[in-house]
Amino acid sequence: MKKSVLSIALLTGVALTAQANQPSEAEARGLVKDYMSQLKPALMKSMKEGGPVNSIDVCHTKAPQIAHDLTQKSGWKINRVSLKPRAVNAKPDAWEKTVLERFDTQLAEGKPIKEMEFSQVIIMNGEKQYRYMKAIPTAAVCLNCHGTDVQPAVKKAISEYYPDDQAVGYSKGQIRGAFSFTKAL
Ligand code: HEC
Repeated sequence: MKKSVLSIALLTGVALTAQANQPSEAEARGLVKDYMSQLKPALMKSMKEGGPVNSIDVCHTKAPQIAHDLTQKSGWKINRVSLKPRAVNAKPDAWEKTVLERFDTQLAEGKPIKEMEFSQVIIMNGEKQYRYMKAIPTAAVCLNCHGTDVQPAVKKAISEYYPDDQAVGYSKGQIRGAFSFTKAL
């Protein structure tokens, strides 16, 4: 592995190897796809077979598990955040809050949620970091657990896991939150 990287570097110049180690939007985007391709089918299958009450456990256990596995695989810190968080770790930090607010402004201006992403190199607690966020749209199926009219049984089950839940009251087409990825540089 090392040898082939070295020979590529010799052929094409050192800039390429430096660049190959740099985090990029393309890489983060690929991880978002990977994440969604694991969570969405599991959630849809569970919703179909067991309904929303039984699917809460999928979101509760599977979502953090996928994030954990992808972090192990990629070296990126991977999280989902929201201005109205449900999961304990979904509370945005100051940088994430600013980006989430920017996404909401862009939505009001008519920008499609699918096109909303933002990346920046910042210094956080003395560490240089590459940070990336990608907005997550609210689809019809999400309203079962995040909507304005969540069934009492679902509400009850959610509040057992998440006593401080704020992630309800959404309608289709709103921004539910965003993926937030960090890589130390
Ligand atoms: C069966 C109920 C259920 C459905 C349906 C559901 N969610 Fe969630 N959602 C949850 C739970 C439970 C969590 C907390 C997960 C955790 O503990 O990490 C969550 C967390 C999230 C988060 C992380 C931020 C936060 O507030 O914790 C996002 C983003 C999110 N959901 C988006 C969606 C989207 C988009 C859909 C539709 C495609 C959807 N959810 C459908 C139950 C649900």
